[in-house]
Amino acid sequence: PFCFANDRIIASDKATLHPMDIGLIRGYGIFDFFRTAHHTPLFLSDYLDRFIRSAEKTHLKLDLNKEELAQIVHDLISRNDLEFGGVRMVLTGGVSENHFSPTAGQLFIFCEALDFPAPSKYESGIKLLAVEHIRAIADIKTTNYAFPVWHSAIWKKEGADDVLYHLNGQVSESSRSNIFVIKDGEIATPNKHILHGITRKRVLELIPQTEIKAISLEEVLRADELFITSTTKKVLPVTQIDNNKIGSGKPGPITQKLMQDFAIMEK
Ligand code: PDD
Repeated sequence: PFCFANDRIIASDKATLHPMDIGLIRGYGIFDFFRTAHHTPLFLSDYLDRFIRSAEKTHLKLDLNKEELAQIVHDLISRNDLEFGGVRMVLTGGVSENHFSPTAGQLFIFCEALDFPAPSKYESGIKLLAVEHIRAIADIKTTNYAFPVWHSAIWKKEGADDVLYHLNGQVSESSRSNIFVIKDGEIATPNKHILHGITRKRVLELIPQTEIKAISLEEVLRADELFITSTTKKVLPVTQIDNNKIGSGKPGPITQKLMQDFAIMEK
């Protein structure tokens, strides 16, 4: 396999990172992640806009513009013959004398095999563990996932599939996905302390009447249907939070219809 490292496409096993890069020693860097289908990157423009925005907001210098990044992505997909897969773009904080201030970082773009939830999860829905937490600088796609990685051992021990973050009574999102709540046919999604997911954006296009508002944990527990969205999970039903069954305990009709509509949208 090949990857892009800083200014050229090279064999992936030749890519290196300086051990003092603050991406590594301080967890300071940004990334983005999208899929290809039939060798075509899905919703590429949105992902590139978000990557560029993340770089700006973290004061990391990106030497390439959107068109140049898109060209590299297309070259890499064809060099790797990536029919269905994931593409990850990472920009690190760089090496600095004080081991703290961002400098010229390293840019990597590489291809990955996809890891989707098992089909049975889409049929039964998943269980989330409610956790009091809020992601820092939530709308920037930083590489800092220390909390979710650390916490994954706990949700696994509890027999859950992921977490639902809430703080002061308000929910925000899951560890790597956005959440939607359906009650009496009305659909809503949180407005604050979230990453603005590209999959969330697609759902908002499919269901434009979705209310974007503060949502309490209470409302989530009383919902008729719940689902989460992300690049790798697409539209995934949630049927349990802690020991509370959501709605009928099975994926609901609105969620199921949306799963179908989303599948058509990405064809
Ligand atoms: N996660 N919220 C968080 C905190 C995320 O990390 C992600 C993406 C999302 C959903 O965004 P999108 O629909 O653009 O994928 C929401 C990626 C897939 C990951 O880290 O694996």
